[in-house]
Amino acid sequence: MGLVTTKDMFEKAYKGNYAVGAFNVNNMEIVQGIMEAAQEQAAPVILQVSSGARKYANPIYLKKLVEAAVECNEQKGIDLPIALHLDHGADFEICKSCIDGGFTSVMIDGSKYDFEENIAVTKKVVEYAHAKGVVVEAELGKLAGVEDDVNVSDGDAMYTNPDQAVEFVERTGCDSLAIAIGTSHGAYKFKGEPKLRFDILEKITNMMPNYPLVLHGASSVPQEFVNMCNEYGGNIPGARGVPEEMLREASKLGVCKINIDSDIRLAMTAYIRECFVKTPEVFDPRTYLGSARDAVKFMVSRKITNALGCNNKI
Ligand code: G3H
Ligand code: 13P
Ligand code: ZN
Repeated sequence: MGLVTTKDMFEKAYKGNYAVGAFNVNNMEIVQGIMEAAQEQAAPVILQVSSGARKYANPIYLKKLVEAAVECNEQKGIDLPIALHLDHGADFEICKSCIDGGFTSVMIDGSKYDFEENIAVTKKVVEYAHAKGVVVEAELGKLAGVEDDVNVSDGDAMYTNPDQAVEFVERTGCDSLAIAIGTSHGAYKFKGEPKLRFDILEKITNMMPNYPLVLHGASSVPQEFVNMCNEYGGNIPGARGVPEEMLREASKLGVCKINIDSDIRLAMTAYIRECFVKTPEVFDPRTYLGSARDAVKFMVSRKITNALGCNNKI
């Protein structure tokens, strides 16, 4: 099976009350770790590329890594649906370049614009993408924290307005919508008790039945990995994410795609730190990067079963 769009994945996820994981990829070990977990768990998967990843690795390398994953699956006779998605496309041009370059899904993030401007840019991307068989995710509402280059302070955080969501989807024709209900990017999501606005989510879902919603900033930041980082020389006190049971709950309320990046970063860092402290004689990068790849596999597997519920769905 070659790369697929998210259309079928989301239809099945919606009906089956689970979500598909969208994992950020930046290098070979991450791609391989995710694929190993998805294969073991028989889970569909979305591999997504941010602008930071494109700057770090070069889009051509990332595309080839994903193609390698598809080819390896084909060789092994594994039928695993994989979508290649642009994460937080900042403008029409970057979306166009990914659509032309073989991505099966793009996100146009117009959340920095006002409502009408967001609609205009999203509509333009939808028209271009749909003509080429590519699906489009858009965003309405603002997440707290840092979103790529845009810094939104807590005070500016703006939840998605359900009435506007309905109008936005009708007018743009976008295939899925990222909403703001209290999640945020990074490893420091909540100062006090974690809280998501399930009332807003339910309202949107009731107003748009069968429409796939997306949650960004959905890493859980498992405390054992935070502790492991800190124990082996790291300094990330107070890191905290969205509890896994909240994500499971959201996945039963119309959320079909859940974005996870920070958890992968955290797991890799924890294992690499442990490797350096426990085996200071090691200087072969394959040893600690191999450990990091195991960490990605472990974390993604855990997300699939605990937070997404998309295991055994192939
Ligand atoms: O949305 C943010 C993602 O975690 C990507 O972050 O631009 O540093 O790759 P990045
Ligand atoms: P986290 O920082 O919570 O992993 O969110 C990632 C994300 O939303 C990528 O678009
Ligand atoms: Zn995001």
